[in-house]
Amino acid sequence: MEKNIKFPVIDLSNINGEERDQTMALIDDACQNWGFFELLNHGIPYDLMDNIERMTKEHYKKFMEQKFKEMLRSKGLDTLETEVEDIDWESTFFLHHLPQTNLYDIPNMSDEYRTAMKDFGKRLENLAEELLDLLCENLGLEKGYLKKVFHGTKGPTFGTKVSNYPPCPKPEMIKGLRAHTDAGGLILLFQDDKVSGLQLLKDGVWVDVPPLKHSIVINLGDQLEVITNGKYKSIMHRVLTQKEGNRMSIASFYNPGKDAEISPAQSLVDKESEYPSFVFDDYMKLYAGVKFQPKEPRFEAMKNAAATAVVNPVATVETF
Ligand code: OGA
Ligand code: NI
Repeated sequence: MEKNIKFPVIDLSNINGEERDQTMALIDDACQNWGFFELLNHGIPYDLMDNIERMTKEHYKKFMEQKFKEMLRSKGLDTLETEVEDIDWESTFFLHHLPQTNLYDIPNMSDEYRTAMKDFGKRLENLAEELLDLLCENLGLEKGYLKKVFHGTKGPTFGTKVSNYPPCPKPEMIKGLRAHTDAGGLILLFQDDKVSGLQLLKDGVWVDVPPLKHSIVINLGDQLEVITNGKYKSIMHRVLTQKEGNRMSIASFYNPGKDAEISPAQSLVDKESEYPSFVFDDYMKLYAGVKFQPKEPRFEAMKNAAATAVVNPVATVETF
């Protein structure tokens, strides 16, 4: 539909050379106009990514595929005669890295897979923190500002959702993952380099996030929209199902700690901000029930909750 759309792909190795200024400008433009960009030469070894991909696909075949097929049967999704709007066509499991790891509680992972995931998680955490500082620089915020906000009292929350989107006989009847914005901070996605499906909503048009071998796709969550006072925005995205191929995606979420206090950065607010201030976990409790709805009513609800708390401060005390 759209012709002149070029999804931003950024070579992060240029951040250390003569092209630093242009690269910073590309990142700023992507953050302002896309909410998404794709990184190459991000410093995460490509052979580690290859191993992770191989083991994730093996793990799915061995331990997840059968369960997924049973789920289809039990939910009556094996025929897909009408459109399904309340279930996603995906097979997932979650790894928590911070504040505490659950890597050793996950069943059926080989030692090699666990070790690689631990290494990958640590490297993504470092990349997320490096990127947050690049965002600070572009936003005119002091170095470390975003990391500090995300820290709360116990450090950030960091986790990985490992997904497979198996082939679907009738892609028009069901989404792999329904449209949503991500609630948290920075999302780092290692997606299948062959099977596509991820799309973002740009100016009212769904645009593909192109598969690109060894890239890491970055997108911004609702918290960064609030902290930047809307200078950067979280963007709606979704995953389409495909008739052929099993799409792997490994999405890592670098989020604020539960008790982190989120509010628009003072230096980015002119008069009064349109955005709410809140404790991150309160936002997550709200998000859990309305993930697949637009974000604006969420921001509004958080603003109203804060207003109620000011009028009736006792109410906030009673919740503890
Ligand atoms: C998500 C998400 C995209 C994907 O989990 O929030 O948007 O490609 N995932 O799996
Ligand atoms: Ni998402």
